[in-house]
Parts: sequence; structure tokens; C-alpha cells
Amino acid sequence: MKIGLIGAGWIGQHTQKETTMNIGFIGAGMIGKAVSTQLAKAGHDVLISNSRDPETLTETFEPLGISVGTPAEAAARDVVFVAVAWRDIPAALAGVDLSGKILVDTNNPIIMPGFTRADTGGKTSSEVIEDLAPGAKVVKAFNHMLSTSYDEGPTVDGAPKVLFHSSDHDDAHAVAAQLIEDVGYVAINLGGLVTGGVLHESPGALAGRVFVEPAAAK
Ligand SMILES: NC(=O)c1ccc[n+]([C@@H]2O[C@H](COP(=O)([O-])OP(=O)(O)OC[C@H]3O[C@@H](n4cnc5c(N)ncnc54)[C@H](OP(=O)(O)O)[C@@H]3O)[C@@H](O)[C@H]2O)c1
Repeated sequence: MKIGLIGAGWIGQHTQKETTMNIGFIGAGMIGKAVSTQLAKAGHDVLISNSRDPETLTETFEPLGISVGTPAEAAARDVVFVAVAWRDIPAALAGVDLSGKILVDTNNPIIMPGFTRADTGGKTSSEVIEDLAPGAKVVKAFNHMLSTSYDEGPTVDGAPKVLFHSSDHDDAHAVAAQLIEDVGYVAINLGGLVTGGVLHESPGALAGRVFVEPAAAK
């Protein structure tokens, strides 16, 4: 897939499949590990962080070709993933400047243990993330499937799995679609952050399910 662009900033340099994106992860748990592993395997330059000393991540991530660092270092990358348990997200985003960044929101408004929906004051989860990351271009993606579904690989009987993306920013949509395709899935644009996001955030109708695209089977 090639995307036409006016301008030659980093988006212009990085939205073709053969190019490398510079990606930071805040959160290195189940979903952070599953998704960062696949992005690194696809050739992207990935740095991951958690709430502790980066050394706590070295043994797990460096053999996977993933650098370790602090949340501030992750936030300095071109594309930033936030993959943190819902109740910890305000603290995780408190000290980092994400203005102007494409921010991939992999999160669901779920409180564990118990799997209850968090009180988000009538907002979708991505609207809450937008409030916590002023100026960021939020795209909800890589959130609807369980981490184990990533670990099991991008296909079922040869048919690629489907991942959704929702955003109010065209360039954020383009980056999310590119990353989804780079790791071997089919990308489906669900439109705006609110109208689309509510469908694939948990407990939306699409959340927790695995969809495949038989027509794209190889
Ligand atoms: N697990 C799934 O199958 C799944 C699927 C789809 C979406 N999601 C969503 O993805 C998000 C992450 O879920 P998860 O299951 O991966 O959670 P998890 O396994 O509990 O991992 C959470 C990560 O966030 C980090 N973290 C916590 N506070 C932080 C802070 N202040 N600064 C930086 N990092 C911080 C933790 O680091 P420490 O270990 O240092 O505390 C840990 O690496 C959630 O919103 C969840 O709803 C999960």
C-alpha cells in the first residue's frame, strides 16, 4: 500500500511498507509485549518502557531486538503506543509530552480484577486518553483482541485476522493501517474516534472477538 502525501516530514518518509517507523511503547505487559514483538519482527525500530527501571525489561526485550528505556524516551519517538492498565494510565501519561505525536491507544476502560467497566463520565476510552495527552493525534487500534490472539499469529487457516482503527486524524489512520498491515493483519477503518472507537473498545460489539478475512487468504 502506498499513501500519497503532501509534505516530506517523517510521515512522508515512513508510510511505505519497506520503511522503518520509530516507535515507543509506554507499557510492557501482556499487550505491550505481544504487539511490540510483532512490530519489531516486521522491521520497525521499537523502544519499550514500564513504570520501573528499564533494566527490568532488558532480559525479556533485548533478545527480541527491542530497546528498553523510560516512558519519556518512548514518548520522544515518532509513534507512541500506550498499553497500560486503565487505572494506571493517568499516572503513566502525567509526566510525558505527547503533543503532535501519533498516539496509538491500545487500551480498554476495564478495571481488573473483576472485568468491570470503568466510570469514564460518559466518554469513550479514547476521549479520556485525548484529555490526558493534549495535542496528541489519538488513534485507537490493537485493542480489540486478547494478547494471546496476537501471540497465536496473524492468520487462521491462512486467512489474515482483522484489526480495527478509529481516529479523527487522517495521518494517524494511515500510520495505524500501515502498522497493522506490516504485521500481517487486515486493517479496517471504523471512522471517527468516538463513533468507531465505541464499537471496538471493550465491552463494544467487536471487542474480544477474532475476525478473519477469508478473501485475503494466501
Ligand atoms: N491483556 C490483553 O489481552 C489486552 C487486550 C487488549 C487490550 N488490552 C488493554 O491494554 C492495556 C494494557 O493491558 P495489559 O494486559 O498489557 O496490562 P499489564 O499486563 O498489566 O501491563 C501493564 C503495563 O503498564 C505498565 N505501567 C503501569 N503503570 C505505569 C506507569 N505509571 N508508567 C509506565 N508504565 C506503566 C506496567 O509496568 P510495571 O510492570 O512496571 O508496573 C506494565 O508494563 C489495558 O488498557 C488493557 O485494557 C489488554
